[in-house]
Amino acid sequence: MDNDQQETPYLDALRAYADRHPARLHVPGHKGGDGADDALIEAIGELALRMDVPALTYGIDVGSDPTPFERAQRLAAAAWGAKRAWFLINGASQGNLSAGLALAHSGDRVVVQRNAHSSTIDAMVLSGMRPTFAAPEVDAELGIAHCLTEQTLDRALAETPGAVGAWVISPTYFGAAANVRGLAEVAHARGVPLVVDEAWGAHMAFHEALPEHALAAGADLVISSTHKIVGSLTQSAMLHLGHGGRISAEVVDRAVTLTESTSPNSLLFASLDAQRRQAAVHGHELLERMMDALAQARAEIRAIEGLDVLDDRLTGRPGVYAYDPLRVAVDVRGIAANGYELAPLLREIDDINLELYGQNVVVAVFGLGERGLPEAQRLVNALRVAVERVGLDPEGSTASFAPAPPWGELAMTPREAYLGAQEVVPAAQAAGRIAAESLASYPPGIPNVLPGERLTAETLSFVQRTLEMGGSVRGASDRQLHTVRVVLED
Ligand SMILES: Cc1ncc(COP(=O)(O)O)c(C=O)c1O
Repeated sequence: MDNDQQETPYLDALRAYADRHPARLHVPGHKGGDGADDALIEAIGELALRMDVPALTYGIDVGSDPTPFERAQRLAAAAWGAKRAWFLINGASQGNLSAGLALAHSGDRVVVQRNAHSSTIDAMVLSGMRPTFAAPEVDAELGIAHCLTEQTLDRALAETPGAVGAWVISPTYFGAAANVRGLAEVAHARGVPLVVDEAWGAHMAFHEALPEHALAAGADLVISSTHKIVGSLTQSAMLHLGHGGRISAEVVDRAVTLTESTSPNSLLFASLDAQRRQAAVHGHELLERMMDALAQARAEIRAIEGLDVLDDRLTGRPGVYAYDPLRVAVDVRGIAANGYELAPLLREIDDINLELYGQNVVVAVFGLGERGLPEAQRLVNALRVAVERVGLDPEGSTASFAPAPPWGELAMTPREAYLGAQEVVPAAQAAGRIAAESLASYPPGIPNVLPGERLTAETLSFVQRTLEMGGSVRGASDRQLHTVRVVLED
């Protein structure tokens, strides 16, 4: 197989097209920049506009096999160790939607980790599958959700006769990684494929000190948000098929086509080709440098009184098999400000813009190829100033979270609830009704209610209490939860 990871066949083909000034009697109407507004040309550059070509351009993705586009996808498959890779232009969200549609070819029951990304729940809506939800381990001390254990997955599969797949997330936003190898063994022993949403772990294939990546661990289908840490352009992502033969490549291919525009952006594809090259050729060295620099940043943050960081010490806690160090997750419980208050303060101090902030933990993300690390130092310095301003909260580190009440019964599939007739009712009158939307109180961000589930008074008051304590609710059409969207039952 052609596997020269130094090559970027798709990017090169686009560049060759751009450089030879062809007659562009096709879309897009800016015609390689000729018809573009000056502000756009100045902002993104002439070359980018010349390289913006439509799908089905001869010599790029049509012509003699393998086309540069096919070669680029093959190189990506080889780099990640997949049987086949698809370039996506609608993010890992498209990967999740495609995975759902692909699984649904085999049946309509599936086991899904409860705190899945909203696009996984959307995949249930699109595919019509009936999920059995499996609970991740919740860290009551930090107020965040970690990963799924093998025991929990096995129990959920045992409760779901006819399941056609198991669907888990690893690593999490906060860096916790599951024992994917163990989860794959459990799924395979029960005769189903394992789908892993590895949106946050595309870099893990390129350094042995990182948690084992999902394809190497035996996963059957892996969703990879390549634009996150590996750094392709926003919106670009990949879907990787494992070698187990449990999911058909043709079925995945149809699902990818269904969830994709017929006019995928060539610059997004080119960025996947280029960042794959960077990761495959230089990833090991870049990651090594990044891990050293972040270890130092973590040590400096830990030395600030009132702050701590999430790191390898989490490994071994329930739901944490390994830790991925490519983000800096700061535990802010010891200071007199929560994450929601700290985030704007960091913006004010030095224009520090975080990836994520919650009650107890704020997360800064670093990219695989960042040169030097002035940004980590900026974060450390700004945190020092912030802590001086807000002071300490000696009680903060001892607070822990009350567990959420059990989920309501799944009275209909997410699809039936989403598409059925609905009404909006006051939250006080919603108990006993079937939810048409999700409610996920944050922290820790595990949905308390998903479309199709019956609302309980206990759950509604739990979500309301989280709001009163300064938390938030995701998924709700009314963020203050005065009202809830429910299914109209006859
Ligand atoms: C676990 C997980 N899966 C999927 C996605 C969706 O990724 P994208 O934004 O690339 O569509 C995200 C986004 O943050 C995510 O955290």
